[in-house]
Amino acid sequence: MQELPEVTDPRVIDGRKIAQGIEAEVKKEVDAFVKRRSIRPALATILAGEHPPSKLYVKLKHWACKRVGIVSEDHKFPQETKQEEIIGLIEVLNKRPEIHGILVQLPLPKHIDERAVMMRIAPVKDVDGFNPLNMGKMLIGREGFVPCTPKGIVRALSEFNIDPQGKEVVVVGHSNVVGKPAAIMLLNRNATVRVCHVYTKDLKSHTKEADILIVAAGVRGLIKADMVKEGAIVFDVGITWQDERVYGDVDFDDVLPRVKLISPVPGGVGPMTIAILMEHTLAAAKMQAGE
Ligand code: GUN
Repeated sequence: MQELPEVTDPRVIDGRKIAQGIEAEVKKEVDAFVKRRSIRPALATILAGEHPPSKLYVKLKHWACKRVGIVSEDHKFPQETKQEEIIGLIEVLNKRPEIHGILVQLPLPKHIDERAVMMRIAPVKDVDGFNPLNMGKMLIGREGFVPCTPKGIVRALSEFNIDPQGKEVVVVGHSNVVGKPAAIMLLNRNATVRVCHVYTKDLKSHTKEADILIVAAGVRGLIKADMVKEGAIVFDVGITWQDERVYGDVDFDDVLPRVKLISPVPGGVGPMTIAILMEHTLAAAKMQAGE
């Protein structure tokens, strides 16, 4: 795996450090929960196909479970698997009381309707926050299980004592996994939010206005220095794999001199996403135990 240099620049958000803090807290609470209830929180993951990055992400999630004392189960399907087979497993996992969280790694193979699959995860076990009930609750400001990446961004802001209220937030990318929930969660915190995407006419005219810029387009190096406001806070959520390396959506070296804070790729939002997933799995176990 790609070696990460130590973060020494105060403008660079050290996602691994924030994640370690969250995981330490989760581990402490898991230990106390096990002692109190004799129940160990458990996460089941479902992976379909051979997409190498997805395989790595799932592996990283299992390693995180091990670090914090959460049991994890690894379910794999071949690329050509039928939607009904995945839904069948979800139904079984929904009913198993010793499983508290269910995570379906995205993207699923193209012939499978992701939304139809996500709808079948029991909302109380939906640790990724993709079930429409949890999405809808988030939309009306009742945040329970929300998508882990935007929650990690919100957490990072609070770690740096940055209140989004009244800030200009620009989100680039309108996926259900990051862009849309990030926009809603910042709106819930009274930011002025605009969402840009592939059909936006003049991207730069928007991104230049952002106090907080969240980029999740999946286009390597999309954001250059002249598209960023002086003193902005930039979250790079993009991931492009090329030659065994990952690259973000932000041209990091170009943009760094202009920013107040920036999350790097790798070592930024990725580790925070996984730490939040651990937090959610513990919360799911507590909820299902009636706490
Ligand atoms: N694929 C990319 N990001 C995510 C995520 O946060 N959760 C899941 N399940 N799949 C993803």
